[in-house]
Amino acid sequence: MNEAQAKKKIQELKAKIHYYNEKYYQQSESLISDYTFDQMLLQLQQLEQKYPQYKTEDTPTGNVGEKWNQHTNSIYHKYPMLSLNNTYSEAEIIDFVERIKKLLPHEKNITFVCELKFDGVAVSMTYKDGILHHAVTRGDGEKGDDITAHMKMIHSIPLHITQKNIPSIMEVRGEVFMHKNTFNALNDQRKKNKENLWSNPRNTASGTLKMLDPQIVSQRSLDCYCYALSTSISYIKTHYEGIQQLDQWGFNISPTYKICKNIQEIMHYISLWEEKKDKLSMDIDGIVIKVNNIAQQKTLGLTSKSPRWAIAYKYTPEVITTCLEKVTYQIGRTGIITPVAHIKPVLLAGTVVKRASLYNKDYIQKLQLHLYDKVSIAKGGDIIPKIIAVDATYRSEEQRRVKFPTHCPACNMLLVQSESEKSIFCVNSRHCIPQLKGKLMHFAHRKAMNIGELGTKTIDLLFKYKRIATPADLYTLRFQDIYGLDGFKKLSTENLLRGIIQSKAVPFKHVLFALGIRYVGITAAEKLAIHFQDIVNLMHASLEDLMAVPEVGEKIAQSVQHFFQQKENQILIEQLQAAGVQCKIHKQVVLKDRLHLAQKKFVISGIFEKYDREKIKKIISDAGGKVVNTITTKVDYLLIGNKPGSQKLQLAHKHNITILQEKGFKKLLEQ
Ligand code: IVH
Repeated sequence: MNEAQAKKKIQELKAKIHYYNEKYYQQSESLISDYTFDQMLLQLQQLEQKYPQYKTEDTPTGNVGEKWNQHTNSIYHKYPMLSLNNTYSEAEIIDFVERIKKLLPHEKNITFVCELKFDGVAVSMTYKDGILHHAVTRGDGEKGDDITAHMKMIHSIPLHITQKNIPSIMEVRGEVFMHKNTFNALNDQRKKNKENLWSNPRNTASGTLKMLDPQIVSQRSLDCYCYALSTSISYIKTHYEGIQQLDQWGFNISPTYKICKNIQEIMHYISLWEEKKDKLSMDIDGIVIKVNNIAQQKTLGLTSKSPRWAIAYKYTPEVITTCLEKVTYQIGRTGIITPVAHIKPVLLAGTVVKRASLYNKDYIQKLQLHLYDKVSIAKGGDIIPKIIAVDATYRSEEQRRVKFPTHCPACNMLLVQSESEKSIFCVNSRHCIPQLKGKLMHFAHRKAMNIGELGTKTIDLLFKYKRIATPADLYTLRFQDIYGLDGFKKLSTENLLRGIIQSKAVPFKHVLFALGIRYVGITAAEKLAIHFQDIVNLMHASLEDLMAVPEVGEKIAQSVQHFFQQKENQILIEQLQAAGVQCKIHKQVVLKDRLHLAQKKFVISGIFEKYDREKIKKIISDAGGKVVNTITTKVDYLLIGNKPGSQKLQLAHKHNITILQEKGFKKLLEQ
């Protein structure tokens, strides 16, 4: 960006930010997400730093939006309003519990309270002799805005507590929020009036508290859940008792608090509310775990930002906005070209996302995608995130449209579009390097020939030094072909060769899958293997023969036939057969292979209620599975009892390995 463009961009950003700020703070309208707003502000800040000559007095970067609203008084908090340490990882919750235990070595009885993290606006209310004296927003933590008049409009806030045991002074903290149905009704009305819609209940609640007229709070039916009591009453020894006391005094308390004695109970609470959260009447963005005993809380103390005795586990949003940085094109093993969006990294559902799927040419066209567009990323049922929408309002004239290539980015072959599908292909299957590498990756896959030693790096290396081109070449590799290649020493060479040799024993159905015939997944491969028993029979099968196999339709049948008609594939099969790869079914294999947990790897950790460890190991091995000691990417399940090893749990999380408790394990066996 040159200086003139920077100047123009600064002006543009300033105008937009002023506009959204005014809408938000003066009219309580939230037209864009917080994230998008912050991104604009950040961009402006960066530009102003680089080009200080264009930073003007009226810049919104020197102002926090709140200062625009002149109607409130600032009030200092008696105790600073801290924030909570946040995490998106269950492993860090385990660390938190472990840390607490270490910091309180003499305490035998440490319990936790789990509660919901309400997504609204924090408020601190001070009561003097039972009368609401003032209510203040969190502000900068030290002082916030006086919203006493607004809070008085919330029906669930007691203005005067008349019971006998009221302390002369006390502070109650809570979260002001808007119920989802209120929010929807308000937006329906705005739609009818052709007014701009609000983006979410939290922003609407926050905007409402900033309105000059407190009556609007009442009209918009805000509500408040209280989650903390600070008082000198001596009989209140635990956080939970404080909550019960608030309940008894008539404060609005969520019925979802739970005392948890151990990590299992905490994890259970986390997953329970992850499932149930959408059914709640208000939004939550996670759960909070607090040490229950107040004396223990005091021993643990605070850091400058947050208490050591609490942590928030946040559920990550499933849709987030970010910027498209570039689009690259992946060439699959079958020649399909898949566009991939590279985005500015964002945290989504617990992982940092850098790339998102764009599926095919049509999808890019449908989105009318331009480079540097603001895009919404979602994580659907599948693991790969996708771009679901583009916000064209942010697009500048200089942005270029994303254009699908006409030639293969790897081998430069003219790309073709299949008649029946939207996919674009490179048909150079014999020489296009990414396709050849992709075929080998698939061949070595765990569910195919299971050659764990043959990863991407090794395949790249063997290609670079022209040691292999097809899967059959693997079986002709000799020690001297590998030894000495970047980093390959004696042991690693032997391991790789052993992995290749062992793959010769892999059952036929896996071999069939390993061939990478389009549409033939592991299930279809199994059906075909059982039906035809021998690859020779399969190679000569007619379309009708193929379609007689259960679950094999015309598409799979045609694909199988097409595969075996190719000369290069006929040669491949001959070579694999000659190498001793299993190209027919053996009765024994059928049985072993069909066991319930065939090929599944387990790690076991913790103490079990129902069975002892040896019994569990036997159950797993009887069902065809295997128990190993350490967690690697090849492990399928971590089976945990009470007090599982925290390192194992962490690793299981890291590698996305399914964690099973006894109940889940039982279910798996019954499936
Ligand atoms: S306890 C020292 N409990 O989360 C902080 N906070 O970052 C004590 N929040 O804005 C806060 N639900 O308003 C606590 N059950 C809950 C909460 C909760 C929502 C908000 C809080 C603050 C933020 C903390």
